[in-house]
Amino acid sequence: MKFVEQLAAKFDPGDILDSLPGAVIIVDRENVIEYVNSTAENIFRSSATYMLGKLLPSLLPYGSPIPELVDRALSTHSPVNDYRIDISSPRTGEGKIVDVHVAPMTQNSGKVLLSLRERSMAERINRQLTHRGAARSVTGLAAMLAHEIKNPLSGIRGAAQLLETVVPDGDRELAQLIRDETDRIVKIVDRMEIFSDQTPIEREPVNMHSVLGRVRQIAENGFAQNVEFREQYDPSLPHVSGSTDQLIQVFLNLVKNASEAVSEQTKRRITLTSAYRPGIRFARSGSQERAALPLEFCVTDTGPGISEELQAHIFEPFVTSRINGSGLGLALVAKVIEQHGGIVECDSHKKGTTFRIMLPAWLEETDAEGGT
Ligand SMILES: Nc1ncnc2c1ncn2[C@@H]1O[C@H](COP(=O)(O)OP(=O)(O)OP(=O)(O)O)[C@@H](O)[C@H]1O
Ligand SMILES: [Mg+2]
Repeated sequence: MKFVEQLAAKFDPGDILDSLPGAVIIVDRENVIEYVNSTAENIFRSSATYMLGKLLPSLLPYGSPIPELVDRALSTHSPVNDYRIDISSPRTGEGKIVDVHVAPMTQNSGKVLLSLRERSMAERINRQLTHRGAARSVTGLAAMLAHEIKNPLSGIRGAAQLLETVVPDGDRELAQLIRDETDRIVKIVDRMEIFSDQTPIEREPVNMHSVLGRVRQIAENGFAQNVEFREQYDPSLPHVSGSTDQLIQVFLNLVKNASEAVSEQTKRRITLTSAYRPGIRFARSGSQERAALPLEFCVTDTGPGISEELQAHIFEPFVTSRINGSGLGLALVAKVIEQHGGIVECDSHKKGTTFRIMLPAWLEETDAEGGT
């Protein structure tokens, strides 16, 4: 007997589906609902009896992208995902945001299985605010700091340098300390100045495998000498629409964090991956337009992970757990990726951390005309 048959002989498939944390809905080609599990009943606050035979769009807010996903899954014969879809209605209540996976059923042609996973409030706030809000809040501050701090600092530095030449030997060290410390502050302010740069990025077709290769090379020859690197790439990946220099900076920051995370571990490995995820789309802030972000790049390490409390804040500037860290690395990643119209997510557990970045592909027709 096949495994599935054994399973069906032992368990009621309905029972299995009812135990899943996500909502499962099966519709036919005409969007008529044929099956719902109990989680779907909960999310839509309706009974199965009410929902069966109804049209899927009647449960969803007007203009919901979900029926279009069903059409797309049917016409392409392949699964599609969409993230952060609002299904709030008077029936479901406010603030119902779900991730949706839509797949055509192989055995029953024309039938489509939707699975919906609700996002928790914390996760939603976290993901929406972290990389968007954090990067913005530092923008104004950075511009102010550049003016208000760098000018007086150069005065202090100059004075310290003068003192070095006139003070007795025993005090010279102190004057040097002033100079070194002002230099350190200038470096931090310089890094922050990148945040105040609001000019739109100059897009070009970016070969991400060469970007990742460069990053790996810089890392292996510098800060990550005792780390094993692995690369798992999809060689057919199209180009990203973005700025090569800025994306190098982004992945350098991620790989630097990863190598710092593994430095105390016995297994010190960083894995770089690329993949094509045609189903992934994302609502840009402040607009209804959903951009396709089909190119996914991950930096995974075998470090000790990030504690939950810290995870909620890592994309904010000045959040650091390192003695010499400035806490600007990930804030910069967030800012650059936002400017690219992409998303960055972090998955972390005790055995390691993955930073996942999704970016738009280069489209000759639109990008080459200089659109931002
Ligand atoms: N891969 C990782 N594994 C474990 N912790 C991480 C990882 N990446 C980031 N962190 C945590 O997030 C914090 C913030 O990272 P971020 O890169 O913004 O700043 P930093 O590395 O401390 O300083 P900087 O990058 O400015 O030198 C880190 O201090 C660390 O605690
Ligand atoms: Mg860092």
